[in-house]
Amino acid sequence: MKSVNVGLCGLGTVGSGTFNVMQRNLEDIARRAGKPVRITHIGARRDNPACEVGEDVKISRDIFDVVRDPDVHIVVELIGGYDTAKALVLEAISNGKHVVTANKALIAVHGNEIFKAAEANGVVVAYEAAVAGGIPIIKGIREGLVANDIKWLAGIINGTGNFILTEMREKGRVFDDVLKEAQALGYAEADPTFDVEGIDAAHKLTILASIAFGIPLQFDKVYTEGISRITREDVQYAEELGYRIKHLGFTRKTAEGVELRVHPTLVPEKRLLANVNGVLNAVLVEGDAVGPTMYYGPGAGSEQTASSVIADIVDIAREIDNAGNVPHLGYSTETENLPVLPV
Ligand code: HSE
Repeated sequence: MKSVNVGLCGLGTVGSGTFNVMQRNLEDIARRAGKPVRITHIGARRDNPACEVGEDVKISRDIFDVVRDPDVHIVVELIGGYDTAKALVLEAISNGKHVVTANKALIAVHGNEIFKAAEANGVVVAYEAAVAGGIPIIKGIREGLVANDIKWLAGIINGTGNFILTEMREKGRVFDDVLKEAQALGYAEADPTFDVEGIDAAHKLTILASIAFGIPLQFDKVYTEGISRITREDVQYAEELGYRIKHLGFTRKTAEGVELRVHPTLVPEKRLLANVNGVLNAVLVEGDAVGPTMYYGPGAGSEQTASSVIADIVDIAREIDNAGNVPHLGYSTETENLPVLPV
């Protein structure tokens, strides 16, 4: 294929970052993809003043126009949420479009159905940006650690929660005040209870476990506890005892099954995870060959998350053939159906 056309659905925090980074690094992206990759159609309810959209880009107020555009090869879903996003992605797939999404809720809850539809239609669904923002953790596990039997992984996978806990500890700030700032900075979910009650981290853990262990997505089986009941005093007492409270996602494979849990954890202050602060995320992964590894970087943010979205776009653009097929990207990981252990 001579040139790849991208349809962008959503022009919010991540959508605007994706648009701006694509524009700014257009030439490098084309060189790396081996062909021009252009955003040709944007579906968004309103303009975003952070984006200077040229006249060569089609704009639709109905986002479904993007998935029905015969000239679009890759649909990028950045609207978030469950129902409309699911309908949009399924329609894109049935129209033969490849899909890139940053929507962890969508993948964690409806991913099994979406992947089956993608397989049936011969298209790719890629979701690097769904976990840990700008950290290439999905590629890290799926490609970098492909030789390994993964034993366990543990991580700080919600930037908003880590930002709140860090500000409470370092500056003695109160929970609600820091949450408001995280919302203003564009870190928090549209419904911030997803961040503070651990739901967002549970979505991400579901995805990581499916990639690491080759199991189906099982969001409903994750033990989930958030940070909303943690007080400044809890954070300070932990510190006096030589610990930091971190909100962790943890999954481990044993002969009996898989553990899936998300909850606040006391981490000794000298450990690397205890020193991951602010909106940063970190994921520790242990493989049988490589041993323990750690992946660290921004867990949220506009261009930070866009970095992962565009990595997926370029992956697909690189491999797409003249018929629009992507023969070399095997995104399906499901192999085993291990039971999820009670916590
Ligand atoms: N609300 C999410 C977070 C955004 O704070 O981590 C990135 O997934």
